[in-house]
Amino acid sequence: MRVLGIETSCDETGVALFDTDRGLLAEALSSQISLHAKFGGVVPELAARDHGAKLAPLVNQVMGEAGLGLQALDGVAYTAGPGLIGALMVGGAYAVSLAYGLGIPAIPVHHMEGHLLAPMLEDPAPAFPFLGLLVSGGHTQLVAATGLGRYATIGNTLDDAAGEAFDKVARLLGLPYPGGPQIAALAETGRADAFAFPRPLRGRGLDFSFSGLKTAVRIAVAAETAKTPRLSDQLRADIAASFQQAVVDSLIEKCLRALDATGMERLVIAGGVGANRLLRQMLTDQARARGVEVFYPRPELCTDNGAMIAYAGAQRLGQSTSLQIVARPRWPLDTLTPSN
Ligand code: KG4
Ligand code: ZN
Repeated sequence: MRVLGIETSCDETGVALFDTDRGLLAEALSSQISLHAKFGGVVPELAARDHGAKLAPLVNQVMGEAGLGLQALDGVAYTAGPGLIGALMVGGAYAVSLAYGLGIPAIPVHHMEGHLLAPMLEDPAPAFPFLGLLVSGGHTQLVAATGLGRYATIGNTLDDAAGEAFDKVARLLGLPYPGGPQIAALAETGRADAFAFPRPLRGRGLDFSFSGLKTAVRIAVAAETAKTPRLSDQLRADIAASFQQAVVDSLIEKCLRALDATGMERLVIAGGVGANRLLRQMLTDQARARGVEVFYPRPELCTDNGAMIAYAGAQRLGQSTSLQIVARPRWPLDTLTPSN
């Protein structure tokens, strides 16, 4: 079975073709980073319009690379939420129209389920049950995944998402959007122990909090700027490294607590912040030391992409579908319908 995946929830137009026998056949991505850069964040209307302009050429590119015509498709999967409503509507309308024209099902996919299952595109793939650390620009969640569509959120952020904290701190340091990769690069030359930033909610429960950490960075930047208005490169790198370490420590501590609480023996790291090298390395080392197997996809499959939507859609092929365009800006992962 071949499923086309369409991702348009935010600022990347992702298209991919997944074959249940042969795996990923082709994928393409168009990033809108340069479109939104001068605004310091994503402008929803510009995002929706750009998805509309890019979808058809990307689908042609993917089918061309796979050497297949649209008639070879068995389903069209699309991100139905959560995300920006205009962006979701554009992808949903395109996918449902294409599926209708071809007489095949359109499959609405939950964006975070896509992230959670993305490591299954790799070899070895994780099997259920597993604990998922879902860390993206909009979400920071610990998910006990016991089967397809059987997800229980056992930890959540009380305020900012981890990726959002990276993006906001990047802005404080004068770095462009999206901030995660920028902070990670700057941190390479910094000292992680230069600033004693807080690890919010340490030792308490499974929830996360990052807004106090962001404020601590803001205060540190203001204090340093009062001394020398133009921060040296070394100082900026030290702030970046100390901040990154604080986020990574917080994520790891909650993950280890959740592994203890659930007794799960597999851990999946997914979502854009999952591309962070320090997080992958440190969390893998510490989880493995407890006998836990760790899975994460290659960095391109951590950030938004069409492949994860095609894969998740393929797992749900055969479930009842309709021609209604599903677009849900807010959609809790725990409310998905289990499959089997
Ligand atoms: O999953 P994603 O591509 O989109 C959402 O669903 O939100 O995640 C994007 C987020 C952004 O906040 C970005 O700054 C962050 O992931 N990110 C990173 C890295 N790469 C992307 N954060 C830390 N380190 C990275 N290497
Ligand atoms: Zn995402």
